[in-house]
Amino acid sequence: MTIAFEHDAIRAQFPTLAQQLEDQPLCYLDTAATSQKPQSVIDAMNHYYQLDNANVHRAAHQLSARATLNYEKVREQVQGFINSARLDEVIFTHGTTESINMVAYGISQQVNANDIILVDSAAHHANIVPWQQLAKKTGAIIKPIPLNDELSIDHAAFDELLKLSPKLVAFSHVTNALGTVNDVEILVQKAKSAGAITLVDGAQAIAHFDIDVQAIDCDFYVFSGHKMYGPTGVGILYGRFDQLDQLAPMLTGGEMIKTVSFAGTEFGDLPNKLEAGTPAISAVIGLGAAISFINALPKEQVRQHEQSLLTYLQQQLIQLGDIRLYGANKHNCGVVAFNVSSEHHQDVGILLDQQGIAVRCGHHCAMPLMQQLAIKGCCRASIGIYNNKQDIDQFITALRNVKELLL
Ligand code: ALA
Repeated sequence: MTIAFEHDAIRAQFPTLAQQLEDQPLCYLDTAATSQKPQSVIDAMNHYYQLDNANVHRAAHQLSARATLNYEKVREQVQGFINSARLDEVIFTHGTTESINMVAYGISQQVNANDIILVDSAAHHANIVPWQQLAKKTGAIIKPIPLNDELSIDHAAFDELLKLSPKLVAFSHVTNALGTVNDVEILVQKAKSAGAITLVDGAQAIAHFDIDVQAIDCDFYVFSGHKMYGPTGVGILYGRFDQLDQLAPMLTGGEMIKTVSFAGTEFGDLPNKLEAGTPAISAVIGLGAAISFINALPKEQVRQHEQSLLTYLQQQLIQLGDIRLYGANKHNCGVVAFNVSSEHHQDVGILLDQQGIAVRCGHHCAMPLMQQLAIKGCCRASIGIYNNKQDIDQFITALRNVKELLL
């Protein structure tokens, strides 16, 4: 069921946004760090704890059966949400970082000394450090993929790097620090033609785009629940079955086994094999509610709303003057990165906070990108479905005050 696009009614579903900060309405522009949660997500998690709380996959009693049923229903929801071919290609993890670590750890038997791993040079640390750890262990070589003038992946440079026949290519669908959008399908297709395994970090894309992993055709696609109006503590590792099934489990124990004896252990089948220990059951239930929330929205109108807000935000920042924008393009997604003249980003962040504005300031866990931009950090305003024009106007007024104080 889809609902008509009544933006006020959508925003009203987010209780956090009803509060005042510093005698101002809270202006939340930090969705790229974590989104706010609709009441339905909070209610679903409360319901689980109040009525269904039990471990999954483990007991004969009714509570456990109910919890297991609801947990596994969310796997089906995720399968539909990203259009994976098989249900057992959907693995619940604790977030994007863990998902990438699971691939980087699990693939190590397939990686040899001097194998090339190509990594998006605008990636956040979660999509850099696990590959560095893998390289340390195996002797593989990491090569950053250069960026073009728009600060998305440079296709010509990528084509050159592909001549090295990389073992694996990892890049962002949308970059977290700047919101630049990469041509995932083309990049994956090129990487596959060169024989590489592909991992796409979808953490910043999942709340904004329709994701079809079969159309993207990547081997792995990862994201977090908390950036798509769901709770923290849950994420997804999607893997094409043949690739996923070859991963060595990073964590062992719990119900991920077939048999255990002191002579040895036989691991179970996917998806259990990669879900060791008690999972984040309430968070998975919350993720299911977040998917239902998103599925009930009119997708095209949401996309247009977010895109027009982002354009308005970019235009207002340019008009304000003395603002340095980084990688601000027409087709960016969700994020504007900037500095106020040469003022320190933290000072700007604190002065904005004193006016009820929440933005992220710092290196955005993307230090290599900051090095390429020759800055220590910047401020980042990011939007979600709940933001409206008043938020942008409040933010710009506050930033004008900051300018008057600092410049
Ligand atoms: N990756 C998150 C961000 O960009 C935490 O803020």
